[in-house]
Amino acid sequence: MSLTLGVLASGRGSNFLAVQKEIEAGRLDATIAVLISDREHAPALDLAREHGIKSVHHAYDRSDRTVFEKAAAETLEAHDCDLMLLAGFMRILTPDFINRFPGKILNIHPSLLPSFKGLHPQQQALDAGVKFSGCTVHVVTAELDAGPIVAQAVVPVEDEDNEDTLSARILEKEHTIYAEAIREIERRQS
Ligand code: GAR
Repeated sequence: MSLTLGVLASGRGSNFLAVQKEIEAGRLDATIAVLISDREHAPALDLAREHGIKSVHHAYDRSDRTVFEKAAAETLEAHDCDLMLLAGFMRILTPDFINRFPGKILNIHPSLLPSFKGLHPQQQALDAGVKFSGCTVHVVTAELDAGPIVAQAVVPVEDEDNEDTLSARILEKEHTIYAEAIREIERRQS
């Protein structure tokens, strides 16, 4: 089954690009219909345009999150998205938004959940002194970074690592597991 994907991204967009490249290479049977950003100048918006994907900025108002969420939900529905990917989307979604797409929102997080939820998970891993960390793709539920796990990958933590070097090693794995997780969702639905 070929899925229509919608992406939410706040920044660089490398996870979005990794998924798009898998699609372009014919290794993932899906289409990204739209990329939405809460940041007007997010590089992810330019990357989407370069790949011929509709890119939309919806302004984010911290005092009323529902304004962004209503606009984003309408855009995703207008593009008939089957699955929403949070790809470096750095806002917490309200239960109302999540319940509008039950079981259909995935997130990628740079730790082996359930360890190191929230911000700076790579630094959290270094502070805890763990010898292995990694990344997780999970279904989004109302509880932060806590929904059912779809895919994970492990990387070693080296003695000389800092937040940047560990983040880079984890990111390499992130670029493989998002597509893996989408394939897994497709298998479950076929
Ligand atoms: C990635 O490392 C992603 O896992 C992380 O932000 C980065 C975005 O990179 N997301 C979170 O920490 C969400 N809690 P990208 O914009 O290049 O995909």
